[in-house]
Amino acid sequence: MNIKDIFDNNEKWISEKLALDKDYFNKLSQGQSPEILYIGCSDSRVTAEELMGVKPGEVFVHRNIANMVPNTDLNVQSVINFAVKHLRVNHVVVCGHYYCGGVKAAMQPLDLGLLNPWLRDIRDVYRIHQDTLDAIENEEERYKKLVDLNVQEQCVNVIKTATVQKAYKERGIKVHGWVFDVKTGKLIDLQIDFDKILEGIMKIYRIT
Ligand code: CO
Repeated sequence: MNIKDIFDNNEKWISEKLALDKDYFNKLSQGQSPEILYIGCSDSRVTAEELMGVKPGEVFVHRNIANMVPNTDLNVQSVINFAVKHLRVNHVVVCGHYYCGGVKAAMQPLDLGLLNPWLRDIRDVYRIHQDTLDAIENEEERYKKLVDLNVQEQCVNVIKTATVQKAYKERGIKVHGWVFDVKTGKLIDLQIDFDKILEGIMKIYRIT
């Protein structure tokens, strides 16, 4: 990929959009009201908009290594706060993906310097679900299961926030856990039982 190509592609994209609607960018400039907040991995193969087939303005996106929602990460917490409280999204999606380098790194006993505390949150997921994971003999299957369970735990972290608890009470906001399979291109809904998780964790994390 040549950097100049990117600017050429951009010019081509502008022409295509304007050919269909000469007011396209003018309309975009007037504001956004996305329905969905998507929290996914930064992995270059897992392009949020392209895999969902959504257009600019439809999804508010946050991406980081291994789609994490650490309780003290001001970045993701600000995104959740802004999207739920101010943009009033009705759905929050945590989307993981198989063959995730971040999850793989967390499964290996390596000192990765600055990345250690980030990966430690994934290791915490392993610790919480150690019995389930250790019972899976096939390494690739175990790795995939950790991807699934990591999505589930990050959904729990989303639900723990006061912003989401309030939005649930007020307008029944939904939290979804998805996984993208890089090998098939398929987007899988993990069918996380949001109401059940909410009921269980509210005993401990209730704020509102
Ligand atoms: Co990843």
